[in-house]
Amino acid sequence: MTPFSAITALLAFVACVAAKDIWIQVGANKTNDATTVFQPQRVTAKLGDTVMFNFTNGNHSATQSTFSAPCVPAHDSNVTINGFDSFFRDAGNGTAVTILAVPMLPENVNHTMWFYDRNSCGAGGVGVINNDENTTETLDGFERNALRLNGTAASSSSASHSSTGTPTSGSTASTETSNEARHLIVSTMTFLVPLLGLAMFA
Ligand SMILES: *[C@@H]1O[C@H](CO)[C@@H](O)[C@H](O)[C@H]1NC(C)=O
Ligand SMILES: *[C@@H]1O[C@H](CO)[C@@H](O)[C@H](O)[C@H]1NC(C)=O
Ligand SMILES: *[C@@H]1O[C@H](CO)[C@@H](O)[C@H](O)[C@H]1NC(C)=O
Ligand SMILES: *[C@@H]1O[C@H](CO)[C@@H](O)[C@H](O)[C@H]1NC(C)=O
Ligand SMILES: *[C@@H]1O[C@H](CO)[C@@H](O)[C@H](O)[C@H]1NC(C)=O
Ligand SMILES: *[C@@H]1O[C@H](CO)[C@@H](O)[C@H](O)[C@H]1NC(C)=O
Ligand SMILES: *[C@@H]1O[C@H](CO)[C@@H](O)[C@H](O)[C@H]1NC(C)=O
Ligand SMILES: *[C@@H]1O[C@H](CO)[C@@H](O)[C@H](O)[C@H]1NC(C)=O
Repeated sequence: MTPFSAITALLAFVACVAAKDIWIQVGANKTNDATTVFQPQRVTAKLGDTVMFNFTNGNHSATQSTFSAPCVPAHDSNVTINGFDSFFRDAGNGTAVTILAVPMLPENVNHTMWFYDRNSCGAGGVGVINNDENTTETLDGFERNALRLNGTAASSSSASHSSTGTPTSGSTASTETSNEARHLIVSTMTFLVPLLGLAMFA
């Protein structure tokens, strides 16, 4: 292999593993259909990618839950999961756009992450990262669970969850995790740089 082709191959490898930002628009669709709160509702993300919730309109949240309890924060139904939670983000009429970044780390990339909007969950305001539609745990099934379990009273009782005081606060969690994501990228680079050096000698 000539140095040039080795470097080309390396660059191709780097391009292959390059991290992607995967965007989910929150509230951008102003129809009354809650199932359009998250667009798209279902995404697939790989190790190193980051799922970006773009809060563009209205008052919504992106809160991780579990398949069997769609409208309850994941940590409340399963203490071993420290799920992501943006809490309420009021984007107004597009005047206060904010983003919640959820990085795909080795410890979460192979786990399905179900999520919901605290204000429209019972009407189908739900979505998912990395589920397998060929299993019984489909997005449709999750949506049906949300309607069945929270369908009649999408009451403000959900607000009490924001005062649980668990260290899963959205901003803190996402800051910590993006540091980890950065670390991941840095360690990938430190792995590649010596390789590049070797390629020069080849
Ligand atoms: C909202 O979403 C629905 C379903 O995906 C789509 O048919 C409609 O055009 C969207 N409306 C707007 C204003 O984007
Ligand atoms: C995020 O939302 C804003 C406001 O609607 C929009 O202008 C922007 O393009 C969105 N960003 C992405 C990357 O989708
Ligand atoms: C967003 O919705 C929640 C629950 O309905 C409410 O408690 C909160 O005050 C709302 N935020 C704003 C800024 O209106
Ligand atoms: C809680 O979550 C862990 C990790 O995802 C899982 O292994 C366990 O089975 C869950 N427990 C229950 C009761 O669902
Ligand atoms: C939001 O903005 C749109 C377009 O700028 C406007 O037509 C609409 O009246 C606004 N709604 C509110 C509640 O301010
Ligand atoms: C995720 O699962 C795939 C396929 O089973 C496996 O190759 C990979 O090593 C797993 N990744 C992590 C970080 O566990
Ligand atoms: C799901 O099933 C479809 C059609 O049966 C198949 O093409 C696809 O590869 C399957 N996906 C997974 C993740 O197994
Ligand atoms: C959904 O129902 C559960 C159980 O009744 C309740 O704890 C939770 O607060 C509800 N969530 C929403 C968003 O309405």
